[in-house]
Amino acid sequence: MQPKAKFRKDYRQPDFTVTDIYLDFQLDPQDTLVTSKLNIQRQNGTATHLRLDGHSFELISVKLNTQPFTQFQQTSDALILEIPVSYEQFELEIQTRLNPAQNTSLQGLYQSGDGICTQCEAEGFRQITYMLDRPDVLAKYRTKLTACKQKYPFLLSNGNRIAQGDLEDGRHWVEWEDPFFKPSYLFAVVAGDFDLLKDTFITMSGREVALEIYVDRGNLDRATWAMESLKRSMKWDEERFGLEYDLDIYMIVAVDFFNMGAMENKGLNIFNSKFVLANPQTATDEDYMGVESVIAHEYFHNWTGNRITCRDWFQLSLKEGLTVFRDQEFTSDLWSRSAKRIEDVRFLRTHQFAEDASPMAHPIRPEKVIEMNNFYTVTVYEKGAEVIRMLHTLLGENKFQEGMKLYVAENDGKAATCEDFVSAMERASGLDLAQFRRWYSQSGTPELTISDDYDEKHQIYRLHVSQYTPPTADQVEKVNLHIPLKVALYGENGQKIHLKYELSSVSDVLDVIHEHQTFEFHSVTQRPVPALLCDFSAPVRLDYNYTPAQLMTLVKFAENDFVRWDALQTLYFNELRTNLQRYQQAQPLRFSTELLEVLTLVLENANKETELTALTLSLPKETEFAESFKLIDPVGIAVAREFMQKTIAEALKERLLVCYNYNKLTNYQVVAEDMAKRALRNVCLSYLAFTDVGNGLVHKHYHNADNMTDMLAALNAATKAQLPCREQLLYDFENKWHQDGLVMDKWFNLQATRPDENVLELVQNLLEHRSFNFKNPNRVRALIGSFATQNPKAFHAIDGSGYRFLVDILMKLNDTNPQVAARIVEPLIKLSRYDTQRQTLMRRGLERLKGIDNLAPDLFEKIEKALK
Ligand code: PHE
Ligand code: ZN
Repeated sequence: MQPKAKFRKDYRQPDFTVTDIYLDFQLDPQDTLVTSKLNIQRQNGTATHLRLDGHSFELISVKLNTQPFTQFQQTSDALILEIPVSYEQFELEIQTRLNPAQNTSLQGLYQSGDGICTQCEAEGFRQITYMLDRPDVLAKYRTKLTACKQKYPFLLSNGNRIAQGDLEDGRHWVEWEDPFFKPSYLFAVVAGDFDLLKDTFITMSGREVALEIYVDRGNLDRATWAMESLKRSMKWDEERFGLEYDLDIYMIVAVDFFNMGAMENKGLNIFNSKFVLANPQTATDEDYMGVESVIAHEYFHNWTGNRITCRDWFQLSLKEGLTVFRDQEFTSDLWSRSAKRIEDVRFLRTHQFAEDASPMAHPIRPEKVIEMNNFYTVTVYEKGAEVIRMLHTLLGENKFQEGMKLYVAENDGKAATCEDFVSAMERASGLDLAQFRRWYSQSGTPELTISDDYDEKHQIYRLHVSQYTPPTADQVEKVNLHIPLKVALYGENGQKIHLKYELSSVSDVLDVIHEHQTFEFHSVTQRPVPALLCDFSAPVRLDYNYTPAQLMTLVKFAENDFVRWDALQTLYFNELRTNLQRYQQAQPLRFSTELLEVLTLVLENANKETELTALTLSLPKETEFAESFKLIDPVGIAVAREFMQKTIAEALKERLLVCYNYNKLTNYQVVAEDMAKRALRNVCLSYLAFTDVGNGLVHKHYHNADNMTDMLAALNAATKAQLPCREQLLYDFENKWHQDGLVMDKWFNLQATRPDENVLELVQNLLEHRSFNFKNPNRVRALIGSFATQNPKAFHAIDGSGYRFLVDILMKLNDTNPQVAARIVEPLIKLSRYDTQRQTLMRRGLERLKGIDNLAPDLFEKIEKALK
């Protein structure tokens, strides 16, 4: 049977709703009994049937108003009950039996390590019991948990603990009540034995909130950073958004088996342990930042997601785009705004642009979905956040915050739509957002083509801007969007030119609304160098024919760090493009003197701006370069990039060494200044690894490291430059960390991204490694995911061996964890970006997958689109 698609346009209010739920869990890893009492309220006077979602459990009994009930039909994914139209309100009692230990999908109720936990978003609740499992059904939950006290000393659920007790058979029970109405996807249960880190937070109105972080025994020293991050998040949301926490307790539980990053269940967040645990020996600076932003993200959901939730899953970006925007702002306010922006733009341009160009292209508010899990995407999340950011740019902080206040006031306690949000912003600001709304319904990456002219006589400078959105897999016809285009003009010697029309100042944000538009600036006394799309003011591709000299001017003089970084990116991309052509035409590769000159300059100023230098000096990854080509040559890109890396290393060796030595630190601290120094020093190391001093330097760097950031930087430099010391360092690392899955993920990633010819064979052997576990999504992503997405040269080997390997793995993953399978299949469905020989091989792989029995809807949806 083919899975069925759902359409946004088909939304209907439910005929019945659930107002109160009482859940009783008798927890056992092999045999859990769930009793659910639902108070149901009729919403539609003529409905005769109540359809409840549910699958993957055994139904024990059904009662209606306390009497055994048999007037129902059971299908593969639902229970359809006949309800007399005279029943306005009634109670349904349903008993189900579950096996959490056998649930490898990690949705619903499952075992993680020695504990038991739930994951209900998007549609996991229905794997626990029958329910109106849709986000517009808001109910109050009371939950009683009973389990063996010795194995599961902690029994947690949403809200407040209202009662507890011991039983005579060694079991105990705890009862929880959540006073807030919530949809089923925010329900959570955890049972297990943990170490507990406790703290408190005093809210702006003076209430004390208990903060609790639960981690595996022995990991307490790795939980403090998460706790600090949580307190910073709570404070920031009060200060910047005026939003205060609403319960008396906030719990976070770290689990090792988790499909995603983390989950914002009301009052009881469940996290992938990767985004909780951190200490200097096990976590890199990047990991520390990741923990802080995910903790913040989940916390911010308490308002944007929980208090105000989504009416239906097509509105997912309502909570995700907005919450990503909020966590980005949080990081920007606490650390460096420009560095955060650079990082986010890099990510978006690489991954979201690729999604727009893929068979999975969709607007931030999708129109059609087969498997909801497939729409937790970079488009919904990151492009969704860009759309919110554009609103912020158009409205300004004050009006934006007024819009937020209105949005919260109107929708608190409700299930809302994207339209509710835009409408609040529109009314609060007085701006007309009619055309802007198209960002919600149009998919694809718009292209802005810009040319300019300068009228010396009248001192007028003009920008001619055209917009065009190429057709996408899901949508052929495109319309003009409202695109905020932020610009700046610089004189030859770097002075910033004031933007004027006639005699008045004009905004540096241009409203691009037509297909072709010209913007005129007056009193411009010399031909300027334009900085275009500053801060990436819109998620678009920019096409302006910069000369190297213009780019040099921007790198040297632009006030805005983002502009300077971006200008250098353009130089890198041009350099790669030229050399790729030379490679393809079998000509010798050559490095442009201009770029070397700029890089010399960058290194000369390194100590004045450590963080920015680290960012501008690091060469874009192969996958970043790849995204700028319609037709990707994975081997050619790898060759050209490595040539660039080696040339820079040789040419600037002395300067790199000076910079490397200058940025040495004596002890490890997670503070901005030191993190910047480590980043810069380690970028220098990554280049120096390719010179004759590489092996000695890297070896020493590894053994002198007192923290994971430096240790991993050394390992990375050793493997990428294929240094003689690499095997010994890899061996040493494995020996030290093989019992720690999270740390080993770094090692698996390194192995999977090795440039060695025989990397596939190595990866295949590592499937048997003592630290590898096919059931753990982190391990699968670190080894197999990294190989497929971060080692394009090997994955796209022209003999098809990379594809065959991935398909073999996916056939197994389809049965154990389809959600993870559907993530890992991504590089394979992007086949149209490759030459016909590779396309044929990729297609063959996809067809082999499509032919298997029991193909999960997750994979079906993507493969079907890819093979069209
Ligand atoms: N809602 C979670 C977040 O954005 C992500 C998630 C989705 C987690 C689905 C689990 C399952 O933080
Ligand atoms: Zn989220």
